[in-house]
Amino acid sequence: MDFFEVLRRRRSIRVFEAKEVEEYLLERLLKYTFFAPSSRGRRPWHFVVVRNRKTLVALSRAKRGGGARGLEGASAAIVVVARERESGVWIEDLSVASTYLLLIAEALGLGAFWIQIRGRVREDGEPSEEYVRRLLKIPEGFRVLSIIALGHPGEEKDPHTDDEYMPKRVHREVW
Ligand SMILES: Cc1cc2nc3c(=O)[nH]c(=O)nc-3n(C[C@H](O)[C@H](O)[C@H](O)COP(=O)(O)O)c2cc1C
Repeated sequence: MDFFEVLRRRRSIRVFEAKEVEEYLLERLLKYTFFAPSSRGRRPWHFVVVRNRKTLVALSRAKRGGGARGLEGASAAIVVVARERESGVWIEDLSVASTYLLLIAEALGLGAFWIQIRGRVREDGEPSEEYVRRLLKIPEGFRVLSIIALGHPGEEKDPHTDDEYMPKRVHREVW
């Protein structure tokens, strides 16, 4: 698929078919994500790939409200993690990596959506990050930004359209 078509078609897919994501697609998704830019080229990211159904269901309870609920039906999740001391801008580095994951997933014909973990809390007020770290045995000093839920798409959404462009938000030369 043409790159601009990928950008148009990428939507948050939260409903998935009951079909596993093939291992070679996951491999390709992860490999191309390592081509993402990062501050000083440090690539501080780590990815935890989860396929176990019970763990996916547990992760779907990682935050208050319904924001992670779609993980219940996902066939995989990629938890996006960095060692905090490896990059002073780990949030930006992991945001870029998360965006790459979403776009590459689209190019591979997979559905995906971003689940925000950093700065979020669970129903009982526990920080979502601590819950995910405990569940997945992520060591001290590592931070969790997001979870990318993945699967074969079980819903269709309209592609983005030109009318979403907001020229008034673009300031030229000066504000
Ligand atoms: C930083 C960030 C955090 C997000 N957090 C969540 C989330 O926790 N749960 C969720 O269902 N979607 C989440 N999203 C997806 C947005 O809701 C979605 O991208 C937005 O509504 C636009 O829709 P589209 O992705 O279909 O274009 C997040 C997206 C970003 C960039």
